[in-house]
Amino acid sequence: MPKITFQNPQGTRSAGPVSLSVVKGTSILDAAEECGARVGHACGGNLACSTCHVWVHEGLDSLPEVTDKENDIMDKAFDVRPESRLGCQARVADEDVVVEITEESLRAWLDENPDERKKEHAARS
Ligand code: FES
Repeated sequence: MPKITFQNPQGTRSAGPVSLSVVKGTSILDAAEECGARVGHACGGNLACSTCHVWVHEGLDSLPEVTDKENDIMDKAFDVRPESRLGCQARVADEDVVVEITEESLRAWLDENPDERKKEHAARS
């Protein structure tokens, strides 16, 4: 089974990377939800936002091609790089994948989880 590693599962507060083995065809977003990595998903994985934007540092070539629609939505994202993908669209094949969650996605996740945002705020004060 391919392995997905999130380098910064909790953003800047990450204690270290988190990895999990997944069934081939699992999306990066589904894997994130399974292991608690903070990948935002404002549209629920329906390819209508860009909050699941991640950078794929390893295994990028093993992912399916970016579709025109994914490209269109990614145009809304910040700091798009050659290794950018939308987590809800990128489904792993046979190779392991290493992912960094973008600032944009981490912020979106906190917007979707206000209780966690409050905890982070309290920890910083
Ligand atoms: S969750 Fe909205 S495009 Fe991926």
